[in-house]
Amino acid sequence: MEQTQEYLNAILLFIYLIGSVTFILGLKMLSHPETARKGNLIAAGGMIIAIFGTIFLYQHKSEGESVPTGLHNYIWIFAGLIIGTVIGTMAAKKVQMTAMPEMVSMFNGMGGACAMLISLIEYKNDPTATVGKLLIIVLGMIIGTVSFAGSVIAWGKLAGKIKDKTIPGGQIINFLIFAGIIILAILVLGNFMPGTPALFYAILALAALYGVLFVMPIGGADMPVVISLLNSFTGVAAAFGGFLYNNPVMLTGGILVGSAGTILTMLMCKAMNRSLKNVLIGSFGGAKAGPAGEAKAQGAYKEISLNDSAVLMAYATRVMIIPGYGLAVAQAQHTCHELEKVLEEKGVEVVYGIHPVAGRMPGHMNVLLAEADVPYEKLLEMEEANDQMGGTNVVLILGANDVVNPAAKDDPASPIYGMPILEVEKAEHVIVNKRSMKPGYAGIENELFFRPKTSMLFGDAKKVLQALVTELKQL
Ligand code: TAP
Repeated sequence: MEQTQEYLNAILLFIYLIGSVTFILGLKMLSHPETARKGNLIAAGGMIIAIFGTIFLYQHKSEGESVPTGLHNYIWIFAGLIIGTVIGTMAAKKVQMTAMPEMVSMFNGMGGACAMLISLIEYKNDPTATVGKLLIIVLGMIIGTVSFAGSVIAWGKLAGKIKDKTIPGGQIINFLIFAGIIILAILVLGNFMPGTPALFYAILALAALYGVLFVMPIGGADMPVVISLLNSFTGVAAAFGGFLYNNPVMLTGGILVGSAGTILTMLMCKAMNRSLKNVLIGSFGGAKAGPAGEAKAQGAYKEISLNDSAVLMAYATRVMIIPGYGLAVAQAQHTCHELEKVLEEKGVEVVYGIHPVAGRMPGHMNVLLAEADVPYEKLLEMEEANDQMGGTNVVLILGANDVVNPAAKDDPASPIYGMPILEVEKAEHVIVNKRSMKPGYAGIENELFFRPKTSMLFGDAKKVLQALVTELKQL
């Protein structure tokens, strides 16, 4: 009997190894749009094997007693699995591309909540555990709770249900809460007040409050960075769960999520040329930034007709399309691909200039254009796009704003100063398609619209692109 369990343990360990390898492989494949879908499936497959391996082969070690193989409570486990699978599948199928960051935030929050629940249960099971075990339980709970509460607020902000709110003295309050958490944690770990589980639950309450107050004042435009940061928190909290249960696949998964989230956070900050501190307390694009209302008088802008735009592009050698958030809002990616094909039939070379933070999430434009089967080779990263800008006759900006704002280069007083941009003015002509003169997400005026090379082509991106395709076909 014991020998059989030993075999099963070895098989389970092997399953965990397979799971860990698929996570690493999947993550690697996610870094390229062509392999991303497959990578996601491979990692999900590894996770399924690990889950079922644990359910059926894990043996809870208990001294002296012979414990049957596998988990128990199958009705609860499978009810949870089925409900979670149905909700997750429906949410993922229904979600609009533009609402993806919200969904990621909510799912991430659920991960944090799981880590929090694990700690709660393990503390209840063994409140007098060793200091080492208690430390893992307490840390997992603090980080998981902050991630859960913060992610819910981030979700609310992205869904427009919660407004940015700067609380007077917020940073001092946050510091005091943080200090309170540390003091309570020391009291619990040192068992200085034995038999007072209230201390443990007070940590939980303070961590939840900290999560809320930490995200509350951060500007809306910075939410993707915050979500990525919270994502890394969830990973770390899950890794603590892995320690707790001595479960290698949970540990590997947690560490991978933690490190990938941290790297992504840093990459996003780098792409905006801002420090993480500035993101967390800078209120960029948030309540304070908003010169939406204080738009300076910038002089006159000129408009261009659909027909003139079509002619300009039809006789160009190279057209560079710069997609932005507005293209995703208009769901105009398919029409955009059609325009590209019509232009190519006329012998025009068409490329896309992709800014790393265009849209509302990392890789947003790549995913959007891949959905419309735009060939990946046509997508130029920012540096390459800027290198090719000089030889480009027409730049067509579709619903992008902040990522082409010259203030990032020219105006040290601008909140986006220092952010690398697509230098569209190096091209011969710049056509900007958007619906109005309203600012982009950072809430700041864009002087590009008033510059001599720029012409405005107003309207919803999808309608304008459809009209452009019709015009081009008639030329
Ligand atoms: P934005 O600066 O947000 O500008 C989008 C523009 O699209 C708006 O000015 C809007 O103008 C226009 N628009 C909206 N709906 C449209 C429609 N149906 N048809 C045509 N145009 C439409 O976008 P961006 O240039 O992509 O920049 C992204 C912003 O998000 C940056 O500030 C960036 O820092 C921030 N951000 C991004 C990320 C990631 S990872 N992507 C992370 C953090 C922050 P109208 O209202 O006049 O149409």
